[in-house]
Amino acid sequence: MSEQVLVDTAERIRTISFNRADKKNALTRAMYSAAAEAIEDGDRDPAVRVIILTGEGGIFTAGNDIVDFMEQPPAMDGKEISPVQHFMQALLNAKKPVIAAVDGLAIGIGVTLLMHCDLVYCSDRSSFKTPFVDLALAPEYGSSQTMPRAFGHVVAAELLLLGATWNAERAVQTGLVGAVTTPDALMETVRNTARILAAKAPDALAKAKTLMRRAPEPLPDRIALEGRQFAEQLRSPEFAEAAAAFMERRPPDFDKLG
Ligand code: COA
Repeated sequence: MSEQVLVDTAERIRTISFNRADKKNALTRAMYSAAAEAIEDGDRDPAVRVIILTGEGGIFTAGNDIVDFMEQPPAMDGKEISPVQHFMQALLNAKKPVIAAVDGLAIGIGVTLLMHCDLVYCSDRSSFKTPFVDLALAPEYGSSQTMPRAFGHVVAAELLLLGATWNAERAVQTGLVGAVTTPDALMETVRNTARILAAKAPDALAKAKTLMRRAPEPLPDRIALEGRQFAEQLRSPEFAEAAAAFMERRPPDFDKLG
């Protein structure tokens, strides 16, 4: 199964790649499990600072394997965690930054999962579609909330009700994707971004991500929480290193902190 989910770790960056191009990278239970473990393991491993999710063969993913879904539909009843739930929970719980690199088709959960990544890049030949209603299904993994909040109701309805296909230009315009590159430049752009993140203070990065992902709360509560974390970081070895680097006019080295 590992052949259908490639996992590579280099330069503190873990790249998880869907690799089932003959089936348009449609995700099976085994692929979800492998990707979930690769995310969880990367999130635990201090040698990994950033996770990249991508797909091989000019396709991101055609979404859930429909045959798999028909044969073993997950119950989603809270009693048992299915592989797809495991994968999405791993993504949602990741404290380290996750970057999606989309080249080609992103369908169904291939779009839903982007809402839970921190940075999203795509190639100019990419397209995005969530045909849940067309398949007589329902939106999943918070997309009925995250998409209207991110894009506005009428724009989110293009994806979630109409089942429209967005091209790369529309995806950037709506904010689903941060930037578009050529297919050839995609992975280098994403790796460069990952290298920049990998050199940053890991605890500060994790705190910032976790705060950004936190459910909305009254502003005074959020300000108080941020204040506690700010104060904690001010007393941290990370801040000592960042401040020393500033004074010494050199780049900070957070690796030496272990
Ligand atoms: N689940 C299972 N198999 C899938 C799949 C999916 N989500 N998407 C593609 N495949 C398989 C096809 O059955 C086909 O298998 P085969 O060669 O054994 O017949 C193979 O991948 C190639 O797909 P094909 O449809 O021939 O390619 P295409 O270029 O004409 O169309 C898609 C590609 C992705 C547009 C089309 O396959 C499609 O619409 N797939 C379903 C996507 C979907 O609705 N996903 C949401 C699931 S919730």
